[in-house]
Amino acid sequence: MTQMPPLNDLYREIVMDHYRTPRNRGELPTPPAQRADGHNPLCGDEISVYVLINGDVIEDIKLTGHGCSISQASSSMMSAAVKGRSLEQTRELVARFKELMTSETADSSDQALRELGEIAALSGVSKFPVRIKCATLAWNTLTQALDDAPQQG
Ligand code: FES
Repeated sequence: MTQMPPLNDLYREIVMDHYRTPRNRGELPTPPAQRADGHNPLCGDEISVYVLINGDVIEDIKLTGHGCSISQASSSMMSAAVKGRSLEQTRELVARFKELMTSETADSSDQALRELGEIAALSGVSKFPVRIKCATLAWNTLTQALDDAPQQG
């Protein structure tokens, strides 16, 4: 496990909680679930995301794989945040999270962070460019799973 960047105390607590007690670990049968595999080219860590889509809702999501504390915490937070969300809301959340991680113009106002809920705890990662790929790994893999999923009519 690589060292955790110096996040503020509250945020650090939230991130460590997700790292120690990851939500939604495991697999889902494929089909009907869609699986995507992602890896961080900087370290070789890997993650698999399974999503069960019902209509336009993510009914269930599970994750397997290994990685550093930031990647594991981020994947746990992502899974908790998108379970039960519509596909459209999920894609919006992915976009907002990636903006928070990568854009210098990201909206990091209190309101914007509040809307992200626990996920805002990862906002400090954006100051550590080498860790951004850790934090976005699960989110990119989720996007891949959604893109690969057969369209439901
Ligand atoms: Fe591998 Fe973070 S060091 S995912």
